[in-house]
Amino acid sequence: MDLKSGIDVSRLPQHVAIIMDGNGRWAKGQGMPRIYGHHNGVKAVRACTEAAAEIGIRYLTLYAFSTENWNRPEQEVNALMALLVETIGQEVKTLNENNIRLEAIGDISALPAASLQALKKGMRDTAQNTGMTLILALNYSSRWEITRATRQIASRVKQGLLHPDQIDEHTVQSELETHNYPDPDLLIRSSGEQRLSNFLLWQCAYTEFYFTPVFWPDIQKKDFWQAILEYQQRERRYGMTSDQLMMDHTPNI
Ligand code: FPP
Repeated sequence: MDLKSGIDVSRLPQHVAIIMDGNGRWAKGQGMPRIYGHHNGVKAVRACTEAAAEIGIRYLTLYAFSTENWNRPEQEVNALMALLVETIGQEVKTLNENNIRLEAIGDISALPAASLQALKKGMRDTAQNTGMTLILALNYSSRWEITRATRQIASRVKQGLLHPDQIDEHTVQSELETHNYPDPDLLIRSSGEQRLSNFLLWQCAYTEFYFTPVFWPDIQKKDFWQAILEYQQRERRYGMTSDQLMMDHTPNI
């Protein structure tokens, strides 16, 4: 069956987030160093970006480097950063041809100068695009993000700009890195691991999860579309009953 043509484009997830996992194990299986897996992972990044843009996904977020990833061997961290610079430099033209805007979440100020420069150039050169937004999570973790948001809210309270009683979910949400994006509707994780690993903890409150055993470098467009088809089989109730949903209540989330 042609997976893509089975997708109901009137019921697409607006925002898909992906935890790209399994590069190291994939490389090990080939008797190669871990970085070989990361290099081959770029093909899967391209495949999923194209697969998402082709069906009309609005936001695609990729977990590319977590705050915990700094603890990996120095050689691997350096290679990942170099790969990032190289990939962004190579892909800007294709992003522009496909009207895709590149953005980032995370503490990017701590990235090595060359990586930060490449990222900023990539974002600047695609800022005018109005199609899909491709968001790279770089030096990102949810606990870092929520701690930072809390500090900012506390500072506004201290300055007398905000009363503690005025703090609600919207106040927190507006201080998150993702304040400009809708919450992910679907989260995909490759390589058989079934956990969130400090990724979008607040934002995934009502997200559907899809886990595939396929290692990231082997992920193809069909795997992305398979996840969308599975998503379309699910009923999202937002804490309500099925009957309420059938009566077309607007979810109060
Ligand atoms: C997880 O696999 C993967 C990463 C930490 C890095 C992901 C990076 C890429 C796919 C390359 C470049 C990306 C962009 C957006 C240009 P792992 O190393 O944790 O695998 P393992 O669990 O098998 O060890």
